[in-house]
Amino acid sequence: MKILVTGGLGYIGSHTAVELQNEGYDVLIIDNLSNSSIEVLDGIQAITGKRPHFEKLDLKHKQDVRGVFKKHPDIAGIIHFAASKAVGESVQNPLMYYENNINTLVYILQELEGLNQKNFIFSSSCTVYGQADKLPITEDAPVKPAESPYGNTKQIGEEIIGDTCKVNSNLKCVALRYFNPIGAHHSARIGELPIGIPQNLVPYITQTAIGLREQLSVFGGDYPTPDGTCIRDYIHVVDLAKAHVVALQRLIENKNQSNFEIFNLGTGKGSSVLEAIQSFEKVTGEKLNYKIVERREGDITAAYAETSKAEKILGWKTELSLDDAMSSAWKWEQRIRNKI
Ligand code: WQD
Repeated sequence: MKILVTGGLGYIGSHTAVELQNEGYDVLIIDNLSNSSIEVLDGIQAITGKRPHFEKLDLKHKQDVRGVFKKHPDIAGIIHFAASKAVGESVQNPLMYYENNINTLVYILQELEGLNQKNFIFSSSCTVYGQADKLPITEDAPVKPAESPYGNTKQIGEEIIGDTCKVNSNLKCVALRYFNPIGAHHSARIGELPIGIPQNLVPYITQTAIGLREQLSVFGGDYPTPDGTCIRDYIHVVDLAKAHVVALQRLIENKNQSNFEIFNLGTGKGSSVLEAIQSFEKVTGEKLNYKIVERREGDITAAYAETSKAEKILGWKTELSLDDAMSSAWKWEQRIRNKI
């Protein structure tokens, strides 16, 4: 059964491609290589022994999207990761984000309607909740006005899917709202490949530890949390990838209870920035050079998932810990810097 993974050479996409292949699916990756590299295909093949089909394509080009679906009429499901995802960049360049994240979703959905099997999984984000009023965060927590164009494209994306599903009962769609994905496959053959200065915490930690960065700035030590630093739900990327396979199987087997379902994907546990640093230091034996500085604009105080819906309905929950994620992130960083 062939599954299309858009953005499949990216961080979460590549880990999902591995788990799909592990479950026996035939994987077709579309990627424009704007934020990934073709060598990721080698990494996937090194892990599973199977090389995904690959089409280099920019999903902003509607005719090219149409062409690839004509070439692969046997696509039985789509997992749509392809999108720009840097919060700060989206504030500086909103139109690039709306064009790249919204137009491409519309073109993919237009092609979905023409498939025999109309199974679709959308990569969404806990960012839609903003600073939730209640913790842990359930799926029926209100979606707050987006704090960035990036976050807005996830909200708009979910609305586009919802509106389309209302008038097309044949579509079977799921939006997966990720909390904070971290870590890498234990083989260290694939992992996160931030371009330039990492915006996210964990790659900045590993790049500081390996000597690429001078010092980690901890953005804010005066939040209303036990140790004053922000709290997040750090989920191992392999657990996250497995959730996509479970959600897809559910659609293929027609077990979905409505034609548009939404799930939070997190561990259910909040960890502060200092706790994340302590975990890294514990599992690696490295002493991290960091300094608490002023808050980062736009950061929320705390977010972590209420996980019972995914557990009860998807039959999925995380198996890997924060320590596992830190250990795998460090092994990956060492490998890509040829230290191991
Ligand atoms: C985590 C915590 C920072 C870097 C964003 C997006 C979200 C998703 C994940 C795409 C915060 C602190 C960070 C640093 C720090 N992206 N931090 N020093 O902001 O929770 O979520 O990335 O889907 O949609 O919003 O993740 O890793 O940037 O920050 O102190 O150098 O680490 O202040 O408290 P965030 P993050």
